[in-house]
Amino acid sequence: MKINHSNDIKYIGVNDHDIDLFEGQFDVPLGMAYNSYLVLDEKTVVFDTVDARFAQEWLGNIKRELSSRSVDYLVVQHMEPDHSANIALFAETYPDAKIVSSEKAFRMMKNFFGDDFASRRIVVKEGDKLSTGSHEFVFVEAPMVHWPEVIVTYDTSTKTLFSADGFGKFGANDVEDPEGWDCEARRYYFGIVGKFGVPVQALLKKAAGLDIRAILPLHGPILDTPETIAHAIAQYDTWSSYRVESEGVLIAYTSVYGNTKKAVLKLKEMLEARGCKKVALADLARDDMHETIEDAFRYGKVVLATTTYNSGIFPFMYEFIHHLLERNYRDRIIGLVENGSWAPTAARTMRSMFEKSQGIKFCDNVVTITSALNTSSEGSLAALAEELVSL
Ligand code: FEO
Repeated sequence: MKINHSNDIKYIGVNDHDIDLFEGQFDVPLGMAYNSYLVLDEKTVVFDTVDARFAQEWLGNIKRELSSRSVDYLVVQHMEPDHSANIALFAETYPDAKIVSSEKAFRMMKNFFGDDFASRRIVVKEGDKLSTGSHEFVFVEAPMVHWPEVIVTYDTSTKTLFSADGFGKFGANDVEDPEGWDCEARRYYFGIVGKFGVPVQALLKKAAGLDIRAILPLHGPILDTPETIAHAIAQYDTWSSYRVESEGVLIAYTSVYGNTKKAVLKLKEMLEARGCKKVALADLARDDMHETIEDAFRYGKVVLATTTYNSGIFPFMYEFIHHLLERNYRDRIIGLVENGSWAPTAARTMRSMFEKSQGIKFCDNVVTITSALNTSSEGSLAALAEELVSL
């Protein structure tokens, strides 16, 4: 990947097309990139390592860019193993290099590698600086974006923000994402840091005081035009403050024998007939769970439709609501559709799960289906559609 805004910052990351699940849970059909950067100043600096499976490729990238030079510093911004796995190998390969990181990160190194590199470490905190010749790097603490030890780094000479996990996206860098940056960046954001809106807001406040000409994240493409930078920051502001991004309704459902599915298809039709321009439909048992999570945050209105099951709700709906709750789901309108052949209680169960959530408003019209749609439940669906478009 080319770095346009600086001749002496080199991309030394890798693309992963073999991964099945990123971080053990995220489907990544476009692969994944683990970014790493090398600064060739009077002193040389590597920013972060890569996933363990790419150790040799990464070391080869460093060597190729260094020519006959060596590395003076490794800056470790984040200790999650997709970035940190090769710290010990790096330390062995470049025995004179210093390792620069936060105190918490060194404690994690001890746990991961049995070594906190005491004789060669430089512990940095908020505002500390590292000068390498023409570059001056300022370290900024970014706890919980996405782990507690995270730092990001601002290069005052090139106005570059090395943003760690922030502003990353799913997808390898050597494939064109047909949907552009937003879709997989949003799925990544709500999947990975969605819970940490407050810390992300804190980081954005710090970033607002900086003149940023390029963002170099640890996943996904470099952002190096004023438009892409402004857009990414604005999207992060919306997402981390839990604001609605787009007008629309998400209908998330489970259906055991197809009757609840028939009902939600009908509801979609009713909403569209009433002028609703965007109705996203997600089968929680079959569609990508994290795609549905991002849609739940993207839109302001969500309909949850499920069956009563073992005196509770169908497992995929339970899992979905659990994902929303652990990401502090809030400030949304929720409509409920329940199905049950003898004692439908799913709506009550779903409502109670959001008891502690802030700013959730439930629609007055709750649709109860007893096995299959009939004239009465179709009437309730129409009333729910009417209410949703009126809110
Ligand atoms: Fe990309 Fe939190 O690791």
